[in-house]
Amino acid sequence: MSMMSIRTATPKDREAIRLVEEHAFGQQTEAGLVDALVDSGDTVLELVAEEDGHVVGHILFSRLYVEKGGVRHPAVALAPLAVEPSFHGTGIGGALVREAHLRLKQSGETLAIVLGEPAYYGRFGYAHGRAAQFDSDYQCEALQALAWGEAPESGKLVYAPAFSADLAA
Ligand SMILES: CC(C)(COP(=O)(O)OP(=O)(O)OC[C@H]1O[C@@H](n2cnc3c(N)ncnc32)[C@H](O)[C@@H]1OP(=O)(O)O)[C@@H](O)C(=O)NCCC(=O)NCCS
Repeated sequence: MSMMSIRTATPKDREAIRLVEEHAFGQQTEAGLVDALVDSGDTVLELVAEEDGHVVGHILFSRLYVEKGGVRHPAVALAPLAVEPSFHGTGIGGALVREAHLRLKQSGETLAIVLGEPAYYGRFGYAHGRAAQFDSDYQCEALQALAWGEAPESGKLVYAPAFSADLAA
């Protein structure tokens, strides 16, 4: 019987994470984004899902700021999320998102932003309505937010520099 477990990513996971990202997205853009975020120290939380000791899923949250009236409120950006294609639809993506949210809340984070498919992220509480007033180059229906506490509802979203090359969720 297979056993799925979730744990914090370690430096030894880099190659396995790169492969999961490449397989899930069918391109290298997201794997490159992950490396850039890790190299620049902008990662807030990075988890992997393992099946029988093999990394089959990965999620990363990076630091993002909401700038308003000269004040920078720290938030987190979910990107990317990837599951090895042969494991799609088995609950790994959802388990990674939920575990990450628990840990982020526990560590005092109040706001998460994602640019992704509303039909998928809506099930975790993300809503475009919560993000609609943010000033962002990526403002659209796919821009969604989830707040766990007092957090700004407007202001400019400032992503980690690695995103200026690309933005993927
Ligand atoms: C998106 C992804 C991470 C989901 O992982 P997963 O482990 O298959 O997800 P889960 O098993 O937890 O959930 C499966 C559910 O999500 C739905 N789903 C998956 N991708 C979806 C998408 N792009 N849009 C809408 N729903 C989606 C499935 O239809 C399924 O729905 P159901 O529960 O009603 O049957 C995975 O499909 C993946 O790696 N995709 C390629 C990379 C990607 O697109 N990442 C996210 C960018 S928005």
